[in-house]
Parts: sequence; C-alpha cells; structure tokens
Amino acid sequence: MKPILITGGAGFIGSHLTRLFVRKYPQYHVVNLDNLTYAGNLENLKDIEKESNYEFVKGDITDLNFVKTLFEKHQFTGVLHCAAESHVDRSITDPLAFLRTNVLGTVSLLQAAKDLWKDNEEGKVFYHISTDEVYGSLGTEGFFTEDTSYDPRSPYSASKASSDHFVRAFYHTYKLPVKISNCSNNYGPFHFPEKLIPLCIHNILNNKALPIYGKGENIRDWLYVEDHVRAIDLIFHQGKVGETYNIGGHNEWTNIALVKELCRQMDEKLGRVTGSSEKLITYVQDRAGHDMRYAIDASKLTKELNWLPSLQFEEGISKTIDWYLDNEEWLKHVTSGDYQGYYEHQYGK
Ligand code: NAD
Ligand code: TYD
Repeated sequence: MKPILITGGAGFIGSHLTRLFVRKYPQYHVVNLDNLTYAGNLENLKDIEKESNYEFVKGDITDLNFVKTLFEKHQFTGVLHCAAESHVDRSITDPLAFLRTNVLGTVSLLQAAKDLWKDNEEGKVFYHISTDEVYGSLGTEGFFTEDTSYDPRSPYSASKASSDHFVRAFYHTYKLPVKISNCSNNYGPFHFPEKLIPLCIHNILNNKALPIYGKGENIRDWLYVEDHVRAIDLIFHQGKVGETYNIGGHNEWTNIALVKELCRQMDEKLGRVTGSSEKLITYVQDRAGHDMRYAIDASKLTKELNWLPSLQFEEGISKTIDWYLDNEEWLKHVTSGDYQGYYEHQYGK
C-alpha cells in the first residue's frame, strides 16, 4: 500500500478529495490529518470512514514534532495539503489565526517532508492546494495566468501567497518535489454555510435575509468542487514537478446575479411563489478591501492534462441545492453551537 497524506480532509474540498482517493485508489493508504476546527466535520466522510484504506488522525499541522512523528510513522510518499483557514471575513477579524495555520502549518509539513525524503527519489510529491486570490483583484478585463504577479489583498490571501512562496522556496532550495494549483471559488455539497452560496441556501430555507456586500457587483469564477478534485487528481499523478497550474470554471457571475439564480431555483424546488426568495436580498456594508473580480485562465491545465470543467453552472447549482435539501440534518448540525455566535458577530441579529 502506498501511504498518502491528505491534510484538512474533513473540510469542504478535502472531504471530496479524500473520498475520490479512497474510492479510486485501493492501493493507497489514505491518512486524513485534520484538527477539526469549526470547518472540519467527520460527518462529511461518513460514507468512507470504514474503508480499509482510510485512516483519520486528529492533529494540528502547526505542531512540527507531531507532524514529523506522523511522517516517520507512515513513511508518506505523497502529500496533498488542503488544511487551512479559508474564510476571508474571518481573516479580517483574526489575521493571526491565518498566519499560524496557513503559513506555519504549511512550513511544518514542508519541513517534515524534506526530512523524510532526504534523497528526493522519484515518485514523491508534495502537492499544495492554493487559491486564485493570491493574484489580487482584476478589473473588468483579463484573466489570472500562472505568470500573473502575486498581489494578495486580504489577510487570507496574504497568508496563502506566503505559503505558496514557501512551497516554491523548498523546491528551489532543497529540491523538494512540489506541485501547486491555484483554483477559483468552489461550490457544492458539504460547503460550510459561512461562504456565499451555502449561506444563501440556508437563509432561503429559513426565510432569513440574504446579505449582499456592497452593490453585489463583485465577480467570482465558480467551479463545482468535484471538478476541482478531478483536476487535483490529474495534477498529482501527471503534472510536472515544480510547476503551478491554475484551475477555474470559465464561469463568471456577479454576486447579485448568482444569488438571484439561487433564489429562482429554490422558489421552484420549494414550490414557493416566483420572486418570494428574492425579497430576502438585503444589501449590507461592503467587506473591507473587497476584491472586485477573480477570473482564471486554465488553458495550461487543459492543454497539458486535457482537463475541462464538466458541469454547467445552472446544473451544478441545481445539484448543490438538491444536496442541501436532502441533507437538512447536516445543515442543522453545522449551524448549531458556535455558528450562531459567528453569524451574529458578522451580520448582527
Ligand atoms: P475548509 O475551511 O472547508 O476546510 C479546512 C480544513 O482544514 C478543515 O477540515 C479544518 O478542520 C482543517 N484545519 C484547519 N486548521 C488546521 C490545522 N491547524 N491542522 C489540521 N487541520 C486544520 O476549507 P476548503 O474550502 O475546503 O479549502 C481547502 C483548501 O483549498 C484551502 O487551502 C483553501 O485555501 C483552498 N481553496 C479553497 C477554495 C474554495 O472556494 N473553498 C478555492 C480555492 C482554493
Ligand atoms: P465567499 O463565498 O466568502 O468567497 P471569497 O470571498 O473567497 O470569494 O464570497 C464570495 C463573494 O460573495 C465575495 O465577493 C463576497 C460576497 N459575499 C456577500 O456578498 N455576502 C456574504 O454574506 C458573503 C459570505 C460573501
């Protein structure tokens, strides 16, 4: 069995990635290292938790001694690093938490991999999962390519940019076999309802206000999460060592148009009068330093590895809404407890 480490496997993207690897690669022993922050949830992995090639380890990626011991014990041959603090609004409130997990945590993992893979033999891969937000904010024109200069503008994106730099530094300095991908906004099942799409689905279900920052004109490029993990699988196995790949949906939406589409589909699915959910839209104070537009040029990935997004957005959103409607218990669990305090702090009562 090939021992593989996935960090942050109990989170949104990590759980989809873990499921894919456990199911698709019975010859891999997949260890999911996660310290189960508010965003980590073992319910996300219930369907695979008993698989014989899967193991969960609770632990903190910033604890270097612990991480080194884990690498020694399992002799990992590959690492897929997803663990992070991932929400921009939380980074505005608590930047140090982002510095700690995203920078210190990444460097601990790099250090442990470097110590274990002393001779960097063929076949080892340290794959760092990152975001397009490191490139900053676009105007109405243009796309982020792999050569776009970094210009992070939120504490979240600054911490991810810093972690990307460390990954490249370990490649150049120690020849650690690294790969990086920078992806646009993901959506889909198991998405924590602090992010725009699941937050709006939850609020529409509960007839609560749909908070739109500023004028709702900011643009994001949305990708269905299963398309993202399919790209990660390709890059992990076939991408070139030392290279970066952009992953994106070719799917730009202003926030307001996206929320209106969500409202339209939810009215239909819930049998509500057309237009009733749109009445919940409420414009609120803009996010500090709110990036205007993200849009990815993923042509390198398409050319080199033949990857394309598989789902049209209207279809992906429909699947996503159906999942939330079928999994109201999951939604109830993740919105009880600490979530209420977060919500009141962010949006008021
Ligand atoms: P998430 O917040 O849903 O999950 C993060 C996971 O990391 C959680 O399970 C959490 O418990 C775990 N974690 C946090 N701190 C940890 C620590 N110190 N030790 C161990 N585990 C820890 O995040 P996500 O949305 O799934 O994002 C995963 C990765 O993908 C992140 O690196 C993020 O920057 C990147 N990314 C996300 C998106 C997106 O749209 N969500 C887009 C592009 C890239
Ligand atoms: P989000 O899902 O937090 O992802 P990111 O900030 O990483 O792109 O936000 C997506 C967009 O939606 C972003 O432009 C901010 C906006 N937004 C709102 O308008 N209201 C909200 O309550 C949230 C959470 C986000």
